[in-house]
Order: sequence, then structure tokens, then C-alpha cells
Amino acid sequence: MAKHSSQSRERPDVIAAQKVLAEVWPGTAQASSVTLLKALHVLTRDGGLNLDTRRKLKQVLHLVQLLRPPLDALLAEGGDPVIADLGTGKSYLGFILYDLVVGPASRGSIVGVDVRAELVERSQQLAKECGFDRMSFVAGGISDTVLPEARADMVTALHACDTATDDAIRFALRHKAKVVALIPCCQAEVASLLEGAKPTPIDQLWRHPMHRREFGAHATNVLRALVLEAQGYKVRVTEFTGLEHSLKNELILATRHQQSNPLARRKLDQLVEQLGVRPALLDVMD
Ligand SMILES: C[S@@+](CC[C@H](N)C(=O)[O-])C[C@H]1O[C@@H](n2cnc3c(N)ncnc32)[C@H](O)[C@@H]1O
Repeated sequence: MAKHSSQSRERPDVIAAQKVLAEVWPGTAQASSVTLLKALHVLTRDGGLNLDTRRKLKQVLHLVQLLRPPLDALLAEGGDPVIADLGTGKSYLGFILYDLVVGPASRGSIVGVDVRAELVERSQQLAKECGFDRMSFVAGGISDTVLPEARADMVTALHACDTATDDAIRFALRHKAKVVALIPCCQAEVASLLEGAKPTPIDQLWRHPMHRREFGAHATNVLRALVLEAQGYKVRVTEFTGLEHSLKNELILATRHQQSNPLARRKLDQLVEQLGVRPALLDVMD
């Protein structure tokens, strides 16, 4: 799939798709992007926007926009940054990030990791068809995967299920990632630990099952952010996209700037003490 804008002038399907994408796509979509979006079923065969995947496209494009500055900073260092997308699924994020940033930069690579071998196989095939030769995939669990030279400069995990987001944090630490972008998914571990926890002065916060679920998910992400801070990352937590696009809407964006942070470590220990529960992720602090 060569990227020639002259191609789009010759292909009516591309012109139709460009009109459809005008509202969401940054700039005019190239013919190669249209082919990619069709293969991902974001666009229908005749170039219309698939309503089922429209939300996903908006989410991913918004995330790409948020990831661009740290990724540009990695590229500006002059090397070939390795981006690991964990729990990659159909790899919408990886493909669009490659199409919009990594491909045009002519440097850097993207590795998608997912336990589902059939998705990995399909993505490998699509990367080949698109000529995305610096994109590869690993079929396996996040916790079992080690990339060559144990190196990943940026780690992303978009809606990696439940504690797979914690596996992504462990992965980032063992690959010494400079940037970590997590959009957590559903979370059950802390809620179930809170249910069996000893009484504490603040346990009214999670007495009711619904509050326990919500507070458990909130506490999980607060602890994740503190773990990253204690490990030397500067952490920003923001809304990732409009609630109309996803209910799982929190972006934890972490950039490494020091070896460790003893103050964040103390805050983390205090919070764990107050909550009276210790999720498995805390093992990384030992
Ligand atoms: C909800 S999907 C999200 C997929 C993709 N990131 C996206 O946003 O479209 C979660 C994906 O994570 C994968 N996954 C869950 N736990 C995993 C683990 N421990 N190791 C590797 N992949 C995992 C699942 O197979 C699934 O494809």
C-alpha cells in the first residue's frame, strides 16, 4: 500500500471515504489509510463509516492525539523507539498509530501482544498487506512476554481486561519503559478484597456492593498511579475521551523522570494501610 495522494484522486471509493472521514480523521485520509480502515472494518466496502466501530475510531484517534507528544519526544531522541501495545485485540490503536505517526516518521516499531492467537494471526497478515514492516505481534500473555533486549520505550494498554492493566505496569517496569499509557478496563480485584477486609475508620465508603465496585475501581487506579509515581514516573490522570464514546474513560499517562520517588512510596504505603487491602500489583514495590 504505497502512500500517494495522487492515488486518491483516481479512486472514487477513496474520495467517498475521505468525505466520510473528514470530521474525524486528522487531515485528508490517504488512500492507504482508507484501505487500512476498510480492512479493520471501520469503513464499509463502499467507503461509509461503520456505525459499530465509529466509537472505537473516535476513541483511538483521540488517544493517538494524546500519545503524539510523548511519542514525538521519543522519536526526537533520534533512535528507533519500540512501542508495545498490550492486550492489543484487533489492534486498532497499533495500526492507526503506525499509519499516522510511526510510518510517516520512518523510524520506530510497534509490537502488539495478545493472548488470542487468532487475532494476532489476523493482525500479522494485515500488517503485511499494509506494508507496515516495523509492526509485529506476539501471541501470549502480557506477564510471560519479554521483548528483545527487554526493551520497550513506550507501553500502551487500551482497555486491557481487569488485572491485565497491572500486568502492563509490570511489563513496563521490566522493560524500563519511558512512557506508559493505560486506559484501564473493568476491575474486580480490589472490590473483592475490600469485601473481606477488616473494619477501618473509612469502611463506610464501600459498605454497599455498588459503592464497593465503584470505589474498588477508583482505588485501583489511584494505587496504580501511585505505584508508577513511586517508581519514578511523573503521572497525569485525565479523561481520555467523551463519556459518550466509552464509560471506561480514564487515561493514566506516565513519563519516567527519575529512578524512584520516596515521597510517593510513603503515600502509597499510607493509603494501603488506610484501605486495609493490598492488591497483587503492590508486589512490584518489594
Ligand atoms: C477489551 S479488549 C481491548 C482490545 C484493544 N486494546 C482495543 O481497545 O480495541 C482486551 C484484550 O486484551 C487481551 N488480554 C486480556 N488479558 C490479557 C493478558 N493477560 N495478556 C495478553 N492479552 C490479554 C484480550 O484477549 C483482548 O483482546
